[in-house]
Amino acid sequence: MPEGSTLNVIIEKYGGDREALVEILRDVSQANGYVTPEDLATIAQRLGLPQSHVYSVASFYSLISLKPLGKHVIRFCQDAPCHVAGGREVWEVLEQTLGIPFGATTPDGTWTLLPTSCIGACSVGPVMMVDDEIYGNLTPDRVREILAQVGGGL
Ligand code: FES
Repeated sequence: MPEGSTLNVIIEKYGGDREALVEILRDVSQANGYVTPEDLATIAQRLGLPQSHVYSVASFYSLISLKPLGKHVIRFCQDAPCHVAGGREVWEVLEQTLGIPFGATTPDGTWTLLPTSCIGACSVGPVMMVDDEIYGNLTPDRVREILAQVGGGL
């Protein structure tokens, strides 16, 4: 990325502080859709951190993507409270309806399906985030409705 780029603006926003590594990676991912290998190298160099460390932090957090995502990103909670509330069935419906496994993007680039850990809405599990919106009390029918609503029809 050239000087004055989004990446540089974000790094400057945090004063180049290595303690802000997660925030920098998250902001770059949100701004550009994902973090490229070049971004990882620049961040490592600017923060004075090993590239392997920056990569392992980036790959740990589900809100940081290392590959291009679809137009809409579904993050489905895979933790135990959601799982026992019927999450397994909803998980299968998501994969079947979209025709892709978790971790993948539909060939037309509309949907990316990702697992996530608890998003703090366990009392209304099973839960998923679609882009920035949280949806709870999911059932297979409700999931089909949401996908049709957000995606403008499947
Ligand atoms: S376990 Fe799913 S939101 Fe907390």
